[in-house]
Amino acid sequence: MIKGIVAYDNNRAIGKNNELPWKLKDDLKHFKNVTKNSIVIMGRKTYESIGKPLSGRINIVLSKTLNVKHLDVLICRNKSEVLDKLSDYPYKDVFVIGGQQIYDLFEDEIQMMYVTEVKCDIKEPDAFFDINLDKYKIIDDKMYLRNEENEHRFVIYEIAKQKYIDYINFCDELIDSLDSWFYNHFFIKNYHPNSLSSDTERMLLSTFYKEKMPIPEAVISFQNAFMITMQKSLVLGDDGTITCDVRPSEFIIYQKLMEKEKETGEKYKLDGEIWFEDGRWKGEYEKIDR
Ligand SMILES: NC(=O)c1ccc[n+]([C@@H]2O[C@H](COP(=O)([O-])OP(=O)(O)OC[C@H]3O[C@@H](n4cnc5c(N)ncnc54)[C@H](OP(=O)(O)O)[C@@H]3O)[C@@H](O)[C@H]2O)c1
Repeated sequence: MIKGIVAYDNNRAIGKNNELPWKLKDDLKHFKNVTKNSIVIMGRKTYESIGKPLSGRINIVLSKTLNVKHLDVLICRNKSEVLDKLSDYPYKDVFVIGGQQIYDLFEDEIQMMYVTEVKCDIKEPDAFFDINLDKYKIIDDKMYLRNEENEHRFVIYEIAKQKYIDYINFCDELIDSLDSWFYNHFFIKNYHPNSLSSDTERMLLSTFYKEKMPIPEAVISFQNAFMITMQKSLVLGDDGTITCDVRPSEFIIYQKLMEKEKETGEKYKLDGEIWFEDGRWKGEYEKIDR
């Protein structure tokens, strides 16, 4: 999901002589906070105007002319190269940060924007924000007053296309349903034998991959919690039995067997399939004779 961030004046001006035409400390803080740890996409002129890569972020710079060797900077020669690169980072937030040419280039892809509306009229600007915002709805706003740190009064709006709003609502519902699903299937012992866990995980993940949407935190922590529950409740009995409260993956069983091998100096293998019986998952392992 690609987002955008911009600051413009009363006339949608964003720059003059390849610089930001105002000094707004709180807006810079906001920019840093919103884009930290993310991927930022910018044009060559904006990159040169900033003067160095933005730290703590992966900087994608669009340019047909520039050559930069820096670990945090990826130069892309066209838009499809950018989209290709993004597929290497499915878990990262992605922000288009300008300037004019690059907002235009990603107009269709941007689903959500942070817009700082600076209450001033810049004289003779030479860069503008041209994206039509009719398709966007305001989801949040915050007003900042003029003071010694901020040259002008400004409002920061969070605006989004319907697709993004639907996605956020879907994530909220997902978090609620995962909460109750998790409670019912992990903490209450009479757990249904069907491998609901992996089906649910597959269903969730394929939805996000298919839609090319970032995987919500809830799904990631759900998977982590599932792994932890599996690891904690899996018991290898000395009599060769395996028991677990939730359906254990073979990977987890092998990990546990390897731990036991280290402890005892013996070698083991999983013996056949695991099955569900008396409210628990069961299996067997045996010692390999060397
Ligand atoms: N207020 C804000 O929020 C904000 C944010 C960002 C920037 N700005 C301002 O915006 C101004 C710069 O905007 P701008 O539109 O002039 O420049 P820009 O978008 O930052 O960069 C333009 C450059 O990007 C490269 N480029 C553009 N399209 C490309 C494509 N399809 N494939 C490959 N490369 C491509 C080209 O570089 P090559 O010529 O090297 O090929 C082009 O010259 C500055 O004043 C800056 O301060 C303001």
